[in-house]
Amino acid sequence: MTTRILGIESSCDETAAAVVADGREILSNIVASQVDIHRKYGGVVPELASREHLRQIVPVVREALAGAAMKLTDVDAIGVTRGPGLVGSLLVGVTYGKVLAQSLGKPLIAVNHLEGHVHAVLLEAARASRQVKFPAVCLIVSGGHTLLYFVEAEPALGDARAVKLSYRRLGGTRDDAAGEAYDKVARVLGLGYPGGPVIDQLAAVVPRNGSRPDAPRFAPTKIRGNRYDFSFSGIKTAVLYYVRAHPEFAAEIESRREALREGKRKAADLQPLCGPATLRLLSEFQFSVVRDLVRPTLEAAEELHAATVLVSGGVAANAELRKTFEEEAARRGLASFFPSRALSTDNAAMIAAAAYPHFLAGEFAGEELDAEAVLPLA
Ligand code: KG4
Ligand code: ZN
Repeated sequence: MTTRILGIESSCDETAAAVVADGREILSNIVASQVDIHRKYGGVVPELASREHLRQIVPVVREALAGAAMKLTDVDAIGVTRGPGLVGSLLVGVTYGKVLAQSLGKPLIAVNHLEGHVHAVLLEAARASRQVKFPAVCLIVSGGHTLLYFVEAEPALGDARAVKLSYRRLGGTRDDAAGEAYDKVARVLGLGYPGGPVIDQLAAVVPRNGSRPDAPRFAPTKIRGNRYDFSFSGIKTAVLYYVRAHPEFAAEIESRREALREGKRKAADLQPLCGPATLRLLSEFQFSVVRDLVRPTLEAAEELHAATVLVSGGVAANAELRKTFEEEAARRGLASFFPSRALSTDNAAMIAAAAYPHFLAGEFAGEELDAEAVLPLA
């Protein structure tokens, strides 16, 4: 007997639905991104986001069911993101999930979006037939979050292959999320929105050369108090000041903004409009962000005797971050795991997967379920 859970996710600017069997096998995974709607504002506009979720939720769920070759009545349970996120966006998914569960007489499971990101890594591990050893540390790094957790597992009742996870918060960002820093730097430099994917590619063009006397250099961010906290506003501001101190950047930035207005948004379109000084600045920025993410995470893993490092969220798609984590974790005898690129950014497969252990434990939500803009995982 397999358990097929319909997952629904609407916490930010992706309307998503998916069907996952037994928390590990993705039968369908549909994501309707709103990025084209929010791009001209340089960030997510909450009112536009909820309106778009309302438009998309029914067709997206229908497509997810069709992709899994299922009818609504074949679903065993519905898992829905309860928070954290934009309350108006969350409400669309929560309300729709509740109505579906009630009308079908199926259990409803409330899922913390952050727990979903943890399960995105486990889904990918299952797909690759890799065993994840616990305890683990998990870094969730996206446009809205930079959080570090200690994760322990116990066997889930009723399925020997499933685990029930528990979380302890180790640290988080004091200011900007890492993805937010990417997006803001991209805005300053005329590289479009969202900034992460383009900067990821452009930063790799010119290798960082810290010994060049004219190279920009951003020192490691010093954190007082909790060693496992993060901060990215310093690096972001350093980039801003560097750009201000170099007025020769202005013409280039304007030419890239012009290209963006013409719809030329790809790294390959923008690279010819980036001089060597800009490319050096981007590689230093990326190096600094990666360094400041990797160091506390691996220190926590060693100190707490974790076996594994899990990295999830939109920024987990970053090539340099993945490579650095893989190399540095291996050097310390730690296993490292990432979601596929599609599972790194917001999706509903991770929500359906996270719902499964709660389904096994009989942890169901009632009619009073509400969206929660602020919802700590631990
Ligand atoms: O998880 P996600 O889709 O949404 C949030 O919950 O925020 O993450 C989106 C964020 C954006 O800030 C985007 O710039 C960043 O992830 N991002 C990246 C990359 N791909 C997406 N950052 C760095 N490198 C990437 N390859
Ligand atoms: Zn997310």
